[in-house]
Amino acid sequence: EAIEKGGYPHFMLKEIYEQPKSISDCFRGRLNASTGHLLLGGLREYANKMVNADRIVIIACGTSWHAGLVAEYIFEEFCRIPVEVEYASEFRYRNPVIKEGDVVIAISQSGETADTLAAIELAKSKGAVIFGVCNVVGSSIARATHEGAYTHAGPEIGVASTKAFTAQITVLSMMALMIAQRRGTISERRYHEMLVELETIPAKVEKALALNAQIEQISEIFKDATNFLYLGRGYNFPVALEGALKLKEISYIHAEGYPAAEMKHGPIALIDENMPVVFIATKDSSYEKVVSNIQEVRARKGRVIAIVTEGDTLIPSMAEFTIEVPATDEALMPLVSVVPLQLLSYHIAVMRGCNVDQPRNLAKSVTVE
Ligand code: G6P
Repeated sequence: EAIEKGGYPHFMLKEIYEQPKSISDCFRGRLNASTGHLLLGGLREYANKMVNADRIVIIACGTSWHAGLVAEYIFEEFCRIPVEVEYASEFRYRNPVIKEGDVVIAISQSGETADTLAAIELAKSKGAVIFGVCNVVGSSIARATHEGAYTHAGPEIGVASTKAFTAQITVLSMMALMIAQRRGTISERRYHEMLVELETIPAKVEKALALNAQIEQISEIFKDATNFLYLGRGYNFPVALEGALKLKEISYIHAEGYPAAEMKHGPIALIDENMPVVFIATKDSSYEKVVSNIQEVRARKGRVIAIVTEGDTLIPSMAEFTIEVPATDEALMPLVSVVPLQLLSYHIAVMRGCNVDQPRNLAKSVTVE
């Protein structure tokens, strides 16, 4: 097992560090910005169904559902197709409105999640076309879907999903760009900018990983907290959910992810001088709004830890701790901004003596209801 961990103390840390490579592996043979090549070979005859779709339904569970939320923003922005993201376990039991030819994307690392599989069978029985985004080749979900694209992240052993999440977002971004180009909902210029930007992501994730020592110090300060709040807007809202989930899963600290503006309708009541609030506050179209949300938390003495874009000077003057990640297009920022959150939860869990790779009560794949 020590050999399998490749010198890392835990699989989770190894998998976090593998992300620059797993994201590049995801591009292999599919993306080449200099030639303008973008092709997911697994999307063949049904790709046109997606190009002509009047809506897309995404079904998944857990972290894969969070990747689905990021995909909702991406598909809506670039393809102008309305997207609904559903928990597979809810979808399957409420007689969902699916008609012949509807497009469904199922996301699953393991490809074995019982609820996701059952939701696929249900959608299929109603005539939907199902695309799979799976990590495990030949898994039940990969076989049950009509077409799909593997994430090629390699085996993920840590129960808390990390590299599979970023690989899912990578595949879904490529899928959305491919479809957007065919639909004509993206300009040539923007399309090429996005391909170029996608190729820079592994290096930017590498830079985010270099923040490890700083994140370890911050973890030391907050390791005894009993609650955490994670806030973000736009593309960083699903990242807030994922950051909170990572912390809950492996450190057993209660954490909630929320859209930053929605905080005032509830979570703000929890904020006092003991509440750590992690803001994912990178420079994007909602930046100014997030700045006001940080002020609201500061006014109530909340302890702000902010993930910001390199070079930002405003938020560092307001937050107690800032973690600077490289700039990228806001649509791709989740791939970078989630990395410090993975590391934060990892270090806090280790410091609390938790079993990081096999947290209590959780399973890597949930093959029963
Ligand atoms: C379990 C795992 C999570 C995972 C979820 C969905 O809860 O512990 O890490 O996100 O299942 O799994 P899937 O394999 O379908 O992505």
